[in-house]
Amino acid sequence: MKIFPSKPSLRRKTIFLQFLTFLLVTYIFSTCAREEAKDPTSADDQLIKTIKAAAPNGDIRDFILVSGENLSEIPNQDPKNILNPTKVKLGRMLFHEPGISVLPNKQEGMNGFSCASCHIASKSFTAGRIQGVADGAIGFGSSGEGRSKNPNYTGDEVDAQGARPLPTINLAYVRNALWAGSFGSFSLNTGTESAWHQDTLTEVNFKYFEGLEANNIRALQVHRMMMNKTIAENYGYKALFDEAFPEFPDSTRYSLTTTSFAIAAYFRTITTHEAPFQKWLKGDVNAMTEQQKKGAGLFFGKAGCVRCHNSPSLNSFNFFALGVYDLYQNKVGEVFRTGPNDKRVKGRGGFTGKDEDLYKFKVPQLYNLKPVGFYFHGASKLTLREVVEYFNAGIPENPLVSPSRIAAFFKPLNLTSQEVTDLTEFLENGLYDPTLEKYLPDHVLSFMCFPNNDPISRKDLNCN
Ligand code: HEC
Ligand code: HEC
Repeated sequence: MKIFPSKPSLRRKTIFLQFLTFLLVTYIFSTCAREEAKDPTSADDQLIKTIKAAAPNGDIRDFILVSGENLSEIPNQDPKNILNPTKVKLGRMLFHEPGISVLPNKQEGMNGFSCASCHIASKSFTAGRIQGVADGAIGFGSSGEGRSKNPNYTGDEVDAQGARPLPTINLAYVRNALWAGSFGSFSLNTGTESAWHQDTLTEVNFKYFEGLEANNIRALQVHRMMMNKTIAENYGYKALFDEAFPEFPDSTRYSLTTTSFAIAAYFRTITTHEAPFQKWLKGDVNAMTEQQKKGAGLFFGKAGCVRCHNSPSLNSFNFFALGVYDLYQNKVGEVFRTGPNDKRVKGRGGFTGKDEDLYKFKVPQLYNLKPVGFYFHGASKLTLREVVEYFNAGIPENPLVSPSRIAAFFKPLNLTSQEVTDLTEFLENGLYDPTLEKYLPDHVLSFMCFPNNDPISRKDLNCN
């Protein structure tokens, strides 16, 4: 009989227990260490201080974008266009729908293009080329760069605008649309009524809509599109219009206005809220690299970018002259329907007619610019580093804009080459949300190829 366990077995048990304790201690220690790595470093603390000092309300949350999922929290809505999920769904499809492009300049352009011909999701909703061309062009390439003029159209017959397209993202933070802010009856356009009569384009402002609702009505006309009951029925959109716009009578329910409203609703949900900087603002200190944090510190501090770019989307309701070249002055490629007499080159002044507004352009949002490839309203810079170098040098490039008109904050910044690199990295990747394609529709109800539907695009897009 064994009264006591044998000594070797006891020792084995003790050793086993010691080993378990060791494992436990190591585990606890390593988790603590891991928790510690997640705490803000002094670099984060410093950045928080810098951003707070620059924030409109002294709070880093001033720069957080809405996600667009909760429709009621979206800012700057138009009370005449109360958002609902059906409008968003309808707008997402109509924005990409070649079925509504029924007023082309030539019959062969019929149903060949859509809004998204110039606002391509993978190019952050810009054109993928120096100038967007919809009707009168053919082809797509891999993301817009392969589009070229249809040889059967003259340059004057194509649909092209004298500025680089604005990305249709973070538009919940835009109240006056376009580089000149011409659309929308409120915000900075209050008191500009006398300018609305000047052409049929801006007369839509007398309907007293917000910028997006007004802009889209005109965009549908300018870009040779149409909506009526027959089109809605033919392509299967009638039920969605009925669900989205029950308060509109049958006579106006399937119209440019409701199409514009649906697209505006869709626009308001598109935000770059998953960009590293956005995640960092919401507390994920590992979302940005050390270099991106340095770049952010420069943006909100020494480089003074935040003096103009100061909303959640880093735009602002303001216009300044930076003296950049216009589209017709570019050295990269052929552009259509613009030149020194294009009203657009005068910027805000081309709209208001006021001398003090001449050559001023709106302060644009700064997210997801990496894939855009052409920067400023005249696409005069081809990389974000060149943009940062332009601001750092503080020397206007366009001799047609007199120095007295240039923004006071546009002056040499004395950033070192390393600082230029860090700031560029923040713009390129710290502000880049890689998930924008989630805003694309699976299909459009006409089941046409989108965003383009001409024969060459269909091939490029694998639609055949
Ligand atoms: C031919 C190319 C082209 C097509 C097609 C096109 N756009 Fe644009 N879009 C542009 C350009 C260029 C600008 C900037 C023009 C300017 O500001 O002078 C722009 C600007 C905008 C803006 C202003 C954004 C802001 O930040 O102010 C909105 C909104 C917009 N487009 C919506 C639409 C809608 C809706 C359609 C379809 C009905 C459409 N676009 C079709 C080229 C195009
Ligand atoms: C004086 C106000 C002001 C300051 C300061 C300023 N910006 Fe801008 N920014 C603008 C305006 C206005 C535009 C549009 C100019 C144009 O295209 O004519 C612009 C355009 C840009 C663009 C091009 C966006 C696009 O869609 O092509 C980038 C990038 C940019 N700014 C980054 C910066 C950075 C980085 C800084 C700091 C070094 C900075 N900005 C400082 C007013 C300002």
